[in-house]
Amino acid sequence: MTVFKKHIFVCENIRPAESARPSCGLQNSTVLRSELKRILAEKGLSKSYRVNSAGCLDQCEHGPMLVIYPQEIWYCRVRPEDAAEIVEKTILQDELIDHLVYKK
Ligand code: FES
Repeated sequence: MTVFKKHIFVCENIRPAESARPSCGLQNSTVLRSELKRILAEKGLSKSYRVNSAGCLDQCEHGPMLVIYPQEIWYCRVRPEDAAEIVEKTILQDELIDHLVYKK
């Protein structure tokens, strides 16, 4: 069985319209997850790095959110256009992207 080098969880939670809290899934996080998967597949890295849909990560006001394990890197307000930079810098070179880092 393959053990992934990194695991990216992208929140795709969608709440009912009347909810007081925002939903990552209504802010393009599904497109973001698809884009991360597409780029990793294009580079032949899908067996080493896994991208999964996640439920609410309870940081909804800062979404779209994602978290990368085992490094425990939390990124906030992530857009699909950030996917390539995340793969190149954070996934492949272990560099943080400062403007995406979620400061708890
Ligand atoms: S809805 Fe994404 S963190 Fe809660």
